[in-house]
Amino acid sequence: MFFEFNRENKKKANDIIARYPDKRQKSAVMPLLDLAQRQNNNWISKDVISHIAKILDMPEIKVYEVASFYTMYNLKPVGKYLLQFCKTTPCMLRGIDKILKDCKNKLGIELDETTIDQLFTIKEVECLGACANAPVVQINDDYVEDLTSESFLKIIEDLKSGKSYKIGSQSGRRCSEPEA
Ligand code: FES
Repeated sequence: MFFEFNRENKKKANDIIARYPDKRQKSAVMPLLDLAQRQNNNWISKDVISHIAKILDMPEIKVYEVASFYTMYNLKPVGKYLLQFCKTTPCMLRGIDKILKDCKNKLGIELDETTIDQLFTIKEVECLGACANAPVVQINDDYVEDLTSESFLKIIEDLKSGKSYKIGSQSGRRCSEPEA
């Protein structure tokens, strides 16, 4: 589907490109992909790639290489809530496998699939950089931490019914303070 930056994002894109030295504008490819993804319902379509390639005067394949290397870019449509499960060692040791399994069962989808109501997509990712609060899941731009299956499935229920949920630790501790 046709894509170009809207007026507001066009200005943002120009500001981003201006941060880089002359003849080094290609370095803006990652923030421009992020900006485009946010405008394009959280995914990078072929038309997004073409638009950014044109703006930065890059071959499309070079833009695609960047977009396909990082898990932060979604190369196919995702649900309203993108659930990214951290599968690196501290989160594994703290039980992320069970939470993921229970989440799959509850939603009836596998990894990289989206629920029929287009609400949820499940992905596995590497360390989210919040290991002191493992296990961690990223929901769109937010982290939910110190999870158990019960606390995570409650968040899913809240999202389904349009309620807000608590960001950060779900166990009651503040930030990464020692557990009592
Ligand atoms: S291992 Fe999960 S946040 Fe680092």
